[in-house]
Amino acid sequence: MHHCTPSLVTTREELASLLNETSRPRVLVPTMGALHRGHAALLETGRQLAGDGGTLVASIFVNPTQFGPGEDFDAYPRSLEADLETCAAAGVDVVFCPTREEIYPTGLSTTSVSEASLSQGLCGASRPGHFDGVCTVVLKLLNLIAPDTAIFGKKDYQQLAVLRRMVADLDVPVKIVGAETVRQSDGLALSSRNTYLTPDQRTQATALRRGLLAAHALHRAGDPTASDLVDRVRATLATDAPDARVDYLELVDCGSLAPIAPASPIPDHALIAAAVFFGKTRLIDNIELDR
Ligand code: PAF
Repeated sequence: MHHCTPSLVTTREELASLLNETSRPRVLVPTMGALHRGHAALLETGRQLAGDGGTLVASIFVNPTQFGPGEDFDAYPRSLEADLETCAAAGVDVVFCPTREEIYPTGLSTTSVSEASLSQGLCGASRPGHFDGVCTVVLKLLNLIAPDTAIFGKKDYQQLAVLRRMVADLDVPVKIVGAETVRQSDGLALSSRNTYLTPDQRTQATALRRGLLAAHALHRAGDPTASDLVDRVRATLATDAPDARVDYLELVDCGSLAPIAPASPIPDHALIAAAVFFGKTRLIDNIELDR
């Protein structure tokens, strides 16, 4: 059992010398902290993949380069003490919690990684530069930590797809594992941003998952078009979440994230992906359409 206190390191030198003493497999769960049960599930998967003899590393870094101007970088919740307890309970061996200067020592990085295909639509369209920031920091973490496996949640479905593509395109020797979304009992996907919601917005936010499930049921029951499914989600939001503002709601191919035409029947391996504002808080969720 791994219930020891994890080693906390903040500099790349400490990280390197500590990792030198550890055995493989080495598994990395990159996070921005504010850890909730969704992260705990990633860490538990990581612990299993590392096994008793291997090493589980969690990184905690609120990466400034993936936040756009006017986004919530300053407001993003930070809870290091509780996060360390979550890491300890999940059996994490090493927590890497660098400062901004440690990760970006020359200030603004003049080299960045840009995935130019899967990053274009969905969140990429409404958050310009976001996935460049994600790819850049994740590649840096992969280089600093050199894990055998890195784990990312499926709630950020596009992020997972973009990172899979990045490591394939750049021959990064790591296996990427996707982990299932963890939800509240009313279906709301766990997110650090849920803490921004007012009680009323929190109630309305459950409509997103209900709408996605209703669309999924419609798909299983017959042969809807892509726009039938989008309309189904919109109808649930219209009745149950009057204050919701849809950022995007799209049917895409699970692998390429290419949009499925509105009048088209639903191919195998389709995904409904959504981003919806409740007040100023932007939440995302998705559902894979299987039969
Ligand atoms: O998903 C996240 O928490 C972040 O985007 C990640 C992968 C840790 C990169 O900063």
